Amino acid sequence: MTLPDKQRIRDSFARAAASYDAAAVLQREVCGRLLARLDAAGAAAPARILDAGCGTGYGARLLHGRWAEAVIVAADFAEAMTATTRHSAPAGTACTVADIEALPFADAAFDLWWSSLTVQWCDAATVLREAARVLRRDGRLALSTLGSGTYAELRTAFAGVDRHRHTLDFAAADRLAETAQAAGLRDVALLRETVTLHYPDLKQLLGAVKAIGANALGAGRRTGMMGKAAWQALADAYERQRVAEGLPASYDVLLLTARK
Ligand SMILES: C[S@@+](CC[C@H](N)C(=O)[O-])C[C@H]1O[C@@H](n2cnc3c(N)ncnc32)[C@H](O)[C@@H]1O
Repeated sequence: MTLPDKQRIRDSFARAAASYDAAAVLQREVCGRLLARLDAAGAAAPARILDAGCGTGYGARLLHGRWAEAVIVAADFAEAMTATTRHSAPAGTACTVADIEALPFADAAFDLWWSSLTVQWCDAATVLREAARVLRRDGRLALSTLGSGTYAELRTAFAGVDRHRHTLDFAAADRLAETAQAAGLRDVALLRETVTLHYPDLKQLLGAVKAIGANALGAGRRTGMMGKAAWQALADAYERQRVAEGLPASYDVLLLTARK
């Protein structure tokens, strides 16, 4: 899979730090579902937790609410994100600027490695090998990412307009369970669920994608360069997919839990 340039992803998220929370409806929903999976897998109380790709710190706050005694390390490669987390996270949270593909932590440093909606921006095999390295034996992993069905409606709408690819290539997620096993993880359990959000119009739909910084390669960036006619064709094609709740944007959410 070809990922966009790391610097571009980092800059895009850094710019989004201030607008992120108001738009991060999907992120909050998915964090809640991921924690429920972890609870269902029967995780013992972890003493040290890593939130890998912490964003503005919603996951760190949720994990603190669940395990108040745990020491939480929140890591993100966008400095503006870790700065926001530093202000909002519970006292005692350590916020670190770090790339989750090359973590600055010792082997076996964590009891729980957690990452929500970040791995779609990374090389999953590298991230999972690093996760296995920093987890102690029997430590838990909880990861959510996006699969190939994500933004299906947007791809359908763009199909009649041009031949460019407008979203991330989510295909690597289809092999996520095998990738986790190859990284040395066991008891791998994968659940795939579609979450569909609705928007009043295309501008607001694309605005929401942009506000969470997810447009490094996606629709927001490309539509900025579109001519009037192409934009109208896109809006018309999306309009044909409208349902009673509004314009749908589907997310193919993968929830993976495992143990070292
Ligand atoms: C969509 S946000 C999710 C944030 C948070 N986990 C949540 O659920 O709200 C993705 C985050 O991953 C970070 N990120 C992407 N690739 C990363 C990498 N290789 N290392 C560290 N952080 C990364 C981005 O800067 C961004 O803050």
